[in-house]
Amino acid sequence: MTDTQNTITIVIASAVGGVGRTTITANLAALLAKQNIKVSVIDADLQFGDISLAFDLHPDRTITDAAERKDTENIPFYLMKHDSGVNVLPAPSRPEYAELITSDFLLKVIENLKEDTDVLLIEAQAGLHDLTIQLMEKADIILTVSTPLMSALKNTKMMIETLQLLGLKEKVKLVINQFTSKTMIHPKEIRKLIGVNEATFLPKEDKEIDHSLDTGIPVVTGHPKLAFTKELEKMLEDFRWFNHLKKQKAKDKSGFFHHLRLRTSGQGG
Ligand SMILES: Nc1ncnc2c1ncn2[C@@H]1O[C@H](COP(=O)(O)OP(=O)(O)OP(=O)(O)O)[C@@H](O)[C@H]1O
Ligand SMILES: [Mg+2]
Repeated sequence: MTDTQNTITIVIASAVGGVGRTTITANLAALLAKQNIKVSVIDADLQFGDISLAFDLHPDRTITDAAERKDTENIPFYLMKHDSGVNVLPAPSRPEYAELITSDFLLKVIENLKEDTDVLLIEAQAGLHDLTIQLMEKADIILTVSTPLMSALKNTKMMIETLQLLGLKEKVKLVINQFTSKTMIHPKEIRKLIGVNEATFLPKEDKEIDHSLDTGIPVVTGHPKLAFTKELEKMLEDFRWFNHLKKQKAKDKSGFFHHLRLRTSGQGG
């Protein structure tokens, strides 16, 4: 599936910073790539994005180079490929370059990337900004990430209320990250407070997540049995499009042409 009409676009957003947008984006991308799904990540946290860091990539090209050349036609050239198969369009290397990226430019970049992408993940800057709202309008799903701390929840509630006024609440999927058994507020109360029927709760896994950031190996790859991995997988499996893509990719892999390609490329054994 590489028709731009069929690409699933997911914006990973949050009301406040430091809640886990980058961690969730990198791990979701790795889970999708594991199923042979073509996944691209745009780091649209244009001032302080650190998706490259999460994948331990050292970009020699970023979105800034494409913007300086006004090149919206050859975006795959600016992508960095991680070992997991994930393609990353890195954020500018310095915060002052962020203003080179206009929303018009970014929207054209998205259209170009969609031509060869099954699932496009876009990490947005924290907070509700004009650009983020434009990205959300283009998205199929808005993953709204929060921690279970009251201060973060209060702002998340306000953000989702604003998205409702903008007619975007239907796309919202709430993710509560860094949940622990010591969390004072119960999942049911969190859903009620925010005003959603469903939410994904991802556990706090300090040791494994710190280690993954040090090595650039996503937790879901290094620790497939960890509760964090299992919960994220469960979230994906609740999406009909994910199951459809998974089946389609498994079929492609077992097909005659796949084996023929492997044989002719000398990998068939
Ligand atoms: N489930 C988790 N368990 C333990 N630590 C976590 C978890 N998720 C994220 N962290 C840690 O919390 C910190 C913030 O995470 P991350 O960078 O993913 O958040 P962010 O929302 O992208 O932040 P920023 O607003 O700075 O871009 C990081 O140090 C990360 O290792
Ligand atoms: Mg981040």
